[in-house]
Amino acid sequence: MSTLVLVFHPHLEDASRINRRLVEEARRHAETITVVDEYAAYPDFHVDKDHEQQLVDAADRLVFEFPFYWYSAPALLKQWEDAVLTSDWAYGNAHALAGKEIQVVTTTGSPADTYTPEGRHHHTMDELLSPFETMADHIQATWVKPFVVSGVADLTDADLDRIAADYVKAITA
Ligand SMILES: Cc1cc2nc3c(=O)[nH]c(=O)nc-3n(C[C@H](O)[C@H](O)[C@H](O)COP(=O)(O)O)c2cc1C
Repeated sequence: MSTLVLVFHPHLEDASRINRRLVEEARRHAETITVVDEYAAYPDFHVDKDHEQQLVDAADRLVFEFPFYWYSAPALLKQWEDAVLTSDWAYGNAHALAGKEIQVVTTTGSPADTYTPEGRHHHTMDELLSPFETMADHIQATWVKPFVVSGVADLTDADLDRIAADYVKAITA
């Protein structure tokens, strides 16, 4: 199975700690995992629809990876969806992603117990990620359980090594 990881982090190569570590691990598996730093590719937000559609065509699983920003993804992912998931390619008279898998990988500053009905944010991560799940359903892709890394400020380097190994398993399983 080939996995395409599209990373939407505005500062992947400088300010990021968690996603940069995950991406470093994914890049060690270049035979099955392709990683693209989307903010580096499109700093002006002019997403190349044809190029991105070719990347998706070649993959079995599409992974959207991002730091959780304001209960969603950084803005370029929304731009990517609007530019790439076009009518009569992703939905309508053609379904280019039918039979493919879609998965979200996201990292949150807040700990896991704050993403519960009783917790500070009142909603679960599954609820907050439901626009992505609904998008996958609409384009006839199979939704794969998200891989969420929570409470990132408390993670030691040893924690991160273990999580990075789990992440590679999760995005290739
Ligand atoms: C603009 C912005 C918005 C954020 N919004 C959230 C949020 O809604 N929920 C949350 O748990 N963390 C939030 N965070 C924290 C980030 O998710 C956290 O810093 C990131 O996942 C760490 O990953 P990195 O080391 O790869 O940057 C936000 C951070 C920024 C800069």
